[in-house]
Amino acid sequence: MSRYDEIKLELLQNPKTWLVTGVAGFIGSNLLETLLKLNQKVIGLDNFATGHQRNLDEVQSLVENKQWERFSFIEGDIRNYADCEKVVSGVDYVLHQAALGSVPRSIADPLTTNGANITGFINMLQAAKEDNVESFTYAASSSTYGDHPALPKVEENIGNPLSPYAVTKYVNELYAGVYARTYGFKTIGLRYFNVFGQRQDPNGAYAAVIPKWTAAMIKGEDVFINGDGETSRDFCFIENTVQMNILAATAPDEAKDEVYNVAVGDRTTLNELYEAIQLALQQNEIEATSAPIYQDFRAGDVRHSQADVSKASNNLGYQPEFRILEGIAKAMPWYKGFLNQ
Ligand SMILES: NC(=O)c1ccc[n+]([C@@H]2O[C@H](COP(=O)([O-])OP(=O)(O)OC[C@H]3O[C@@H](n4cnc5c(N)ncnc54)[C@H](O)[C@@H]3O)[C@@H](O)[C@H]2O)c1
Repeated sequence: MSRYDEIKLELLQNPKTWLVTGVAGFIGSNLLETLLKLNQKVIGLDNFATGHQRNLDEVQSLVENKQWERFSFIEGDIRNYADCEKVVSGVDYVLHQAALGSVPRSIADPLTTNGANITGFINMLQAAKEDNVESFTYAASSSTYGDHPALPKVEENIGNPLSPYAVTKYVNELYAGVYARTYGFKTIGLRYFNVFGQRQDPNGAYAAVIPKWTAAMIKGEDVFINGDGETSRDFCFIENTVQMNILAATAPDEAKDEVYNVAVGDRTTLNELYEAIQLALQQNEIEATSAPIYQDFRAGDVRHSQADVSKASNNLGYQPEFRILEGIAKAMPWYKGFLNQ
């Protein structure tokens, strides 16, 4: 039995209280769904900056009534310390997801990104330390690898950040390290690599590539590729990310005060991704046959990204269950339903 299966059984027998910040967002709402299905008690915090009530409503529709009753939602802002204190009270495990994502958003508006991602982060970290929570797991980012050329990415070798967003996520790691050394409060940072799946927002200027392209193809709109299409990423299906959060939250002390890559260990170019989405949509009876339009490279983007996930496998028992094509096949029916509503 995998460590993940063991932990899920253990949680079912011995439910815990979890705090998920950013619960109305993509990753947060998927964490909520899995935790409620495991009969956990969940407190959720969000200010709806980029999250949506519809994500919470969808989770409600996917769980049993008595599971939904174990969820309490608090609308609040991590930039406000009193909100952080309020939500963390009595919590066992914190999964801190709330932040403003997107490299281009941070380039357009670095101050707002800084407020949510750095001030908000330290507020949550401090409140969690003061409440003596059992574990604190937070969303770090592969953007921390910056301009370091080596592939695959291993946790200890990072380069210079290429965007304000990357700085904020690296600062999270620095604060986490300082809290371990100064206060003995040990956390786990999860460097997510391009997570995708159901409920990832396809709308808005800062939508991520998979939902943005999927929506454009479903609507018959043009799809733009930044650069020559040979830029590559290690796309990680949401269920792998959920697994990592649960493994990290329940990890033994010796696995803490560390950061871990969260990905699959694969590398897919944008050109390959385009074809994969087109094919998956065709399998869902959506005619998606037009060619992409190539435009300039985008500022702040890393050229290639691929993770070495052996640290997470060795220390946490992480075994990614979905590779990119399996994840895309699972996500497409959701986008078809969502966009045809
Ligand atoms: N999706 C990815 O590929 C990816 C990659 C690397 C890191 N991350 C990180 O993972 C986390 C979750 O990302 P996501 O993809 O689910 O994005 P998302 O935008 O869907 O979710 C973020 C959530 O945080 C909330 N939020 C933002 N500012 C807040 C504030 N001040 N107070 C309270 N809530 C606030 C938003 O309303 C939203 O619901 C973020 O920390 C992000 O930086 C995501």
